[in-house]
Amino acid sequence: MAAVAPPSLDLARLPRHVAIIMDGNGRWAQQRGLTRIEGHKRGKDAVRAVVETSRRLGISYLSLFAFSTENWSRPRREVDGLMGLLRRYLRTELRKMMKNEIRLVSVGDITRLPSSLREELEQTIDATKDNRRMTVVLAVSYGGREEIVQAARALARDVRDGRIGPEAIDESVFSGYLSTRGIPDPDLLIRTSGEMRISNFFLWQSAYTEIYVTDTLWPDFDEQHFLEALAHYQRRERRFGRIIEHAERERLRAAR
Ligand code: IPE
Ligand code: IPE
Ligand code: MG
Repeated sequence: MAAVAPPSLDLARLPRHVAIIMDGNGRWAQQRGLTRIEGHKRGKDAVRAVVETSRRLGISYLSLFAFSTENWSRPRREVDGLMGLLRRYLRTELRKMMKNEIRLVSVGDITRLPSSLREELEQTIDATKDNRRMTVVLAVSYGGREEIVQAARALARDVRDGRIGPEAIDESVFSGYLSTRGIPDPDLLIRTSGEMRISNFFLWQSAYTEIYVTDTLWPDFDEQHFLEALAHYQRRERRFGRIIEHAERERLRAAR
């Protein structure tokens, strides 16, 4: 594994959960006169780099937004191409996931995936379920609103069937109905290719997530770019709505 962490990175204060909106594959390809699918293909190398670097640094959770609910509306050829790439990714990476003790989980409505791909995804999830060193959360056919609606639906059923009373519903109970149950909220959300929007990713989970947007297009996002994003995160002052006392502020400043 290549580059070491830059001196500005404090390995003791890494985010526990990093989420990434991997955007800009189409533009990367367009700039080179290639097809959009060529851009997605190159995007796979960037995925490998962030997974390897996260694992090496000891980041516990890495979420990757690979395909949104809304992306189903893209031309059939592009959707098919993306599904093919996902299939190939699962096949080529399984051995590495086992070797590096990486657990794969997915969020999103995978019933919409072609059934053979869905089976391969489920098999990979099952094969890696006891791996403990890092969790990769693959968001595929995922939409934040859809996730919240399905949680509300499941909760409504449980209320109707008398399994829970309306008064007992609080944030923690509600979180338990989301597909990310058991996974801590992301500390850092990275979006590549410059767009300043969430695009229906982790709407509930990102309430206090630090957001980092870079103009770098996803296929160009390498280990150095990732380390830079992590260093940026460490310079942020997370307040969670509170006021930070002078002494604490000084302590945080000294720690940077
Ligand atoms: C991100 O790249 C990958 C997916 C959404 C599947 P895009 O395909 O959105 O690339 P741009 O934004 O058009 O450049
Ligand atoms: C967000 O990118 C979804 C993924 C990266 C999978 P999009 O390219 O779909 O988002 P918009 O259309 O620019 O908001
Ligand atoms: Mg895009």
